[in-house]
Amino acid sequence: MSKLRVQSFAVSIDGFGAGPDQDLHNPLGVRGPELMEWFFHTRFWRKMHGQDGGETGVDNRIAEQSFEGIGAWILGRNMFGPVRGPWPDESWKGWWGEEPPYHTPVFVLTHHPRATLQMAGGTQFHFVTEGIQAALQQARAAAGGLDVRLGGGAATIRQYLRAGLIDELHLALSPVLLGTGEHLFHGIDLHALGYACEKCIAGERATHLFLRKRA
Ligand SMILES: NC(=O)c1ccc[n+]([C@@H]2O[C@H](COP(=O)([O-])OP(=O)(O)OC[C@H]3O[C@@H](n4cnc5c(N)ncnc54)[C@H](OP(=O)(O)O)[C@@H]3O)[C@@H](O)[C@H]2O)c1
Repeated sequence: MSKLRVQSFAVSIDGFGAGPDQDLHNPLGVRGPELMEWFFHTRFWRKMHGQDGGETGVDNRIAEQSFEGIGAWILGRNMFGPVRGPWPDESWKGWWGEEPPYHTPVFVLTHHPRATLQMAGGTQFHFVTEGIQAALQQARAAAGGLDVRLGGGAATIRQYLRAGLIDELHLALSPVLLGTGEHLFHGIDLHALGYACEKCIAGERATHLFLRKRA
């Protein structure tokens, strides 16, 4: 069966996966981009944004690997955008422009129904209002035997952790203290949920922790 993987999810030393007060100008919340410094400097990230150069070490290799073997994604509605409540219109199409970096079906969890969006480059955003199990079922069916990547954010990952549905969780621990924001581990006992850290790799700008659900 295809796995449900969290990959390259950046957390601060104090456990935050985003800064507070997300809005149009702060997609990752205030000071949230500090979490992603390790990723922004990679050749992989720069290429994804049509730029040359970038670092080619451990962080870059791990960032590349996190996109391999993925047939569908699941996102929380706040990762998709800053719009809250019922969708006022169809104008918001994600942070990523006309050609988002997914190139697969993407299932966005929300309480507010919306028609599927077809984007350039093979990304389709499907809006799922029936909860996390339904989103996973739909993503698996769409993934064609490949793995499903759970993109985030923190609230969505916490739900899948509590339900014991995440097979692998790769956290990029960034050497920053946010102090406030969206906490990944709030109310979560990873050990009791059956997770263990099986690998720890020092990158240039983050420490990569690979957790797996014990059999
Ligand atoms: N650190 C990283 O690597 C990383 C990666 C990805 C994202 N992020 C950041 O994380 C932040 C977003 O995280 P977040 O914790 O605020 O929110 P989130 O998990 O992205 O989204 C939460 C929202 O999704 C909808 N939702 C979630 N579960 C649902 C369910 N079971 N049924 C129906 N709707 C459901 C709800 O929206 P509605 O009720 O409004 O529909 C809920 O308020 C952003 O700043 C983003 O940039 C960080």
